[in-house]
Amino acid sequence: MEGILVRKIKDGTVIDHIPAGMAFTVLRILGLVRSPESRLAVIVNTDSGKYGSKDIIKIENKYIEGDLLNKIALIAPHATINIIKDYEIVEKYRVDLPDKIENVVKCSNPVCITNSEREAVTPSFEVVSKEPVRLKCTYCGRYTEFEDIIKQFTEK
Ligand code: CTP
Ligand code: ZN
Repeated sequence: MEGILVRKIKDGTVIDHIPAGMAFTVLRILGLVRSPESRLAVIVNTDSGKYGSKDIIKIENKYIEGDLLNKIALIAPHATINIIKDYEIVEKYRVDLPDKIENVVKCSNPVCITNSEREAVTPSFEVVSKEPVRLKCTYCGRYTEFEDIIKQFTEK
């Protein structure tokens, strides 16, 4: 079914249904770009049936879980996570953005206390919209939009 042949993995995590071209942005959110600890396959612009194209990430011998996983929903609201054990999918679920996001994203307001180098205040947001994603800073009230988030995770 996939447009390009990449073999199935034995154990690990497959992140499927990532919007086309966003796989590397997702890898940056996961912190897997500069120091991948495991073998990765990144499939970009593969066929997605009636939905056009999509990206897929396959991570061998690593189970991505918890908080980090749901942060994928910032970029890929329809991503599915497949947990693979001995070639079988033992778990499959959709990512879901929590109502509150901490760390990861920076506030779009340059003078927000969370952006101050002198203070060590962890960014914190209320998720006011999931798609398109819109975050409201707990400290300054400024909105951080999908485009702001994409920019933060795109290599300059
Ligand atoms: N996959 C894999 N290694 C395995 C099993 C599955 O790499 N041992 C990958 C498949 O290549 C696919 C994804 O995991 O990209 C999901 O597999 P599957 O559920 O079989 O595909 P679909 O039914 O198309 O998934 P969905 O219903 O989520 O679209
Ligand atoms: Zn702020």
